Amino acid sequence: MRVHIADHPLITHKLTVLRDARTPSPVFRQLTEELVTLLAYEATRNVRVAPVQITTPVTTTTGVRIDEPRPIVVPILRAGLGMLEGMVKLLPTAEVGFLGMVRDEQTLQPTTYAERLPADLSDRQCFVLDPMLATGGSLGAAMEFLFARGAQDITAICLLGTPEGIAKIEEQVGDRDVTLVLGARDERLNEHGYIVPGLGDAGDRLYGTV
Ligand code: PRP
Ligand code: URA
Repeated sequence: MRVHIADHPLITHKLTVLRDARTPSPVFRQLTEELVTLLAYEATRNVRVAPVQITTPVTTTTGVRIDEPRPIVVPILRAGLGMLEGMVKLLPTAEVGFLGMVRDEQTLQPTTYAERLPADLSDRQCFVLDPMLATGGSLGAAMEFLFARGAQDITAICLLGTPEGIAKIEEQVGDRDVTLVLGARDERLNEHGYIVPGLGDAGDRLYGTV
């Protein structure tokens, strides 16, 4: 598994505001969208493209366009939905599939409550969006779901991850083709399964239920 941890002052600046408990939902949503667009630049480094011939006002030349079959973007509901707009701005031709997962806050085990994905993902580049990689249970289950549909090329974008969560995903995916792009690797998980220093509950902060 390839792990890319962003190292850019703009990303660190935006994450700092996102982490601040005083940041209200509208600003949190805006920053989440901006951050995913910045992280998507790295995450799409190996997106498949095909050559095209075009005519400029001056001459003809070759360029590229995003290749078929279209990549698929999979936000993990609910919090991953906050990352969708920022991602599809950069990949407007992508198809969007959905996975709904919720973590039991006592056992920390994820349950899948919704899915809307193609039956066959074997030739699709999959981009999974979830802001938080805490224990790794939710992202790990999401990846298993995609592998079971034949996915062979998965990139996950998370705003924050823990060393524990990264290690869990690394062990789970083995030598399969997986890339993890993170805005930051935080210190650790606390006893409640929350990321430290983290930003709290991403879904609640995005959708105003705090
Ligand atoms: C949050 C977050 C991840 C998960 C991370 O979702 O968006 O999906 O927790 O934790 P894990 O790595 O320990 O599995 P949550 O279950 O709170 O659902 P929500 O997105 O609906 O708020
Ligand atoms: N889910 C969140 O939203 N935040 C955490 O810190 C851990 C899991």
